[in-house]
Amino acid sequence: MIIIGESHLTLIGNYKQMKNVLVTGGAGFIGSNFTNHILSSREDVFIVNLDKLTYAGNLENLKESEHRRNYTFIKGDICNHELVDYIFSKHRINHVINFAAESHVDRSILGSEVFFQTNVIGTNVLLEASRRYEVERFVQISTDEVYGSLGAEGLFTERTPLSPNSPYASSKASADMMALAFQHTYGLPVVVTRCSNNYGPFQFPEKLIPLMIINALSNKKLPVYGDGLNVRDWIYVTDHNKAAELVWEKGKMGEIYNVGAKQEMTNIEIVKLILSYLNKSEDLIEFVKDRPGHDRRYAIDATKINTELGWKPLQKFEEAIAKTIDWYLANKLWWERVISGEYQEYYEIQYEK
Ligand code: NAD
Ligand code: DAU
Repeated sequence: MIIIGESHLTLIGNYKQMKNVLVTGGAGFIGSNFTNHILSSREDVFIVNLDKLTYAGNLENLKESEHRRNYTFIKGDICNHELVDYIFSKHRINHVINFAAESHVDRSILGSEVFFQTNVIGTNVLLEASRRYEVERFVQISTDEVYGSLGAEGLFTERTPLSPNSPYASSKASADMMALAFQHTYGLPVVVTRCSNNYGPFQFPEKLIPLMIINALSNKKLPVYGDGLNVRDWIYVTDHNKAAELVWEKGKMGEIYNVGAKQEMTNIEIVKLILSYLNKSEDLIEFVKDRPGHDRRYAIDATKINTELGWKPLQKFEEAIAKTIDWYLANKLWWERVISGEYQEYYEIQYEK
């Protein structure tokens, strides 16, 4: 028997417990890929997607999921106590996966307030509700940026001391600490993931890879910060989402899991690769003023999630970056709509100053 409706009764087929999952930020890049993946691969899950639909949230990302019976969308703010409480009660939420965040470092440098509000206060609101409703799992989707910057050698492990450098990174570190404190103090079943730089379909074109693809396609300059030699450790979004699913299902309460695909690249290497794939001239590259406080290098040691939970990345960079560029080529309408509004104002402020 499967009973899913207003109250998503918590029984399915062989009386296995139904998971009523609050996914926050599910209209953003990673959250929408996650939601589409879970809904297309499982039947034991009802997803309530709570998203404020900021500039980064886009319901077009969820077209393949929107008609599913085990899915509902609510436009709202994770900072809104009353709304969050109502959702937990109405949908009998027993799992939370918190993707919602202000996620772009450059925007946090232009103004940090909304980062503190959403990333710290919002997470706290979700944690308080999770405590009251005694959820079975709270997954905090965090980032490797909480560890700060590496020199030429070394990798971030889960024991690397926190040293966040940007307002974005420090808001994420604060949220992690709050989530882990709820585990320590109240026994809330919290797990934390810290992933490296994602790429793939539906990424908002303020981030390096989609911004460079779209500028190249539009024959606009490609703005490379500083000397272009900063290093990021790239992971295809489906690999991150499988890691998040595994940590949600099998991660040990109170534990942190780093996630990364061992794919370090300098920014200039990525930019040249995109230009070459699109058959565009390197004359489009423009070295611009560096990002203030720009972290030099990120690199993840993912041994723990590999040995304890059996996760490993499946996507090879060369193939997945090609797939990503092809996706932007095939989805011009998607990105044309995305860059038609607020993005233009942001671009002016960020790049034309
Ligand atoms: P994104 O900016 O694409 O999406 C964020 C989503 O959160 C948007 O849909 C937005 O509308 C929503 N949101 C923002 N404020 C909200 C609020 N107050 N209430 C409800 N919804 C709100 O971000 P992303 O790149 O998909 O990142 C998702 C999560 O993963 C973030 O927590 C981020 O810190 C983390 N992360 C991202 C990366 C990466 O490379 N993009 C890597 C590691 C971790
Ligand atoms: O490491 C995980 C983090 O990765 C996530 O937590 C963040 O949410 C996500 O935005 C990302 O942060 P970065 O700052 O590393 O990503 P971004 O795409 O903004 O920049 C990647 C690198 O490219 C960085 O060294 C800055 C550089 N860059 C970026 C832009 C937008 C440029 O040189 N030019 C640009 O125009």
